[in-house]
Amino acid sequence: MMGESEKRLGNRLKTAAEAIRGAEYLTAFSGAGMSVESGIPPFRGEGGIWNKYDPAVLDLEAFVRHPGRSWPVIREMFICFLGADGRPPAQPNEAHRVLAKWEAAGRLKTTITQNIDGLHAAAGSRNLVEFHGHCRTMTCLDCGRELPLNAEATRAAVPRCACGGLLKPDFVFFGEGIPPGALEAAEEAARKTDCMVLVGTSGVVYPAAAIPQLAKRRGATIIEVNPEPSDYTERIVDLFIPMKAGAAFLRMDALLGPR
Ligand code: APR
Ligand code: ZN
Repeated sequence: MMGESEKRLGNRLKTAAEAIRGAEYLTAFSGAGMSVESGIPPFRGEGGIWNKYDPAVLDLEAFVRHPGRSWPVIREMFICFLGADGRPPAQPNEAHRVLAKWEAAGRLKTTITQNIDGLHAAAGSRNLVEFHGHCRTMTCLDCGRELPLNAEATRAAVPRCACGGLLKPDFVFFGEGIPPGALEAAEEAARKTDCMVLVGTSGVVYPAAAIPQLAKRRGATIIEVNPEPSDYTERIVDLFIPMKAGAAFLRMDALLGPR
């Protein structure tokens, strides 16, 4: 016998699937919660990286002044993504795969992610805006040289370029601007969006957190997938799906059926 809450959840998923099916321009907006089921810790909430470390270590000025304090955190964050010390790199989960499938089927137009783990791209998403950059490369702050960011290149306590300059991973640090083009691309997508699915984001970091609000202002239906309410839930969300990303996307995909 299905419980009341299971029935309610089932109805929400059905309503969400209908909104997704009818969308002209569907956009996904993801945060760290998207990758928790791939074994990558979030920043806030249960098991969050900021429960262990002070976010100031990823402030750009602090990194330039004391890179030796920032690198242990960077290494710990990346060990999950890149794999090192014998640990395999993180893999896309069901939610990443369903979004890539919806894009390939022409259902999903754009994925805007705050994540730097590369898992949307690894799952096959192509119309992807990496709002906070990525962790594929590092750039020398002196000569601008770009190097791959891998376990080998990050073995030194403070990785430096051959010119002696400091190497900075190409993801956005606090106090650093959004990569040129990413902000415009995200705002352009939000303006065209008539349905946005927010996944696994607490909605507390700007300017990223303004993107779903832009979509809302232009009249988009906002669906949120998150086991916990976020900063968005009471303010802009039309349909809150209190579930983990993997299970929620599998259920919605099953309800949508083949395109
Ligand atoms: N499925 C879906 N959501 C989940 C899951 C899951 N399995 N597990 C946790 N969550 C939710 C949490 O409830 C929380 O609301 O994911 C969210 C993670 O929030 P944050 O860790 O704050 O991640 P995010 O919103 O992406 O942070 C934004 O902050 O530190 C900076 O640059 C960093 O891009 C990051 C930005
Ligand atoms: Zn250099």
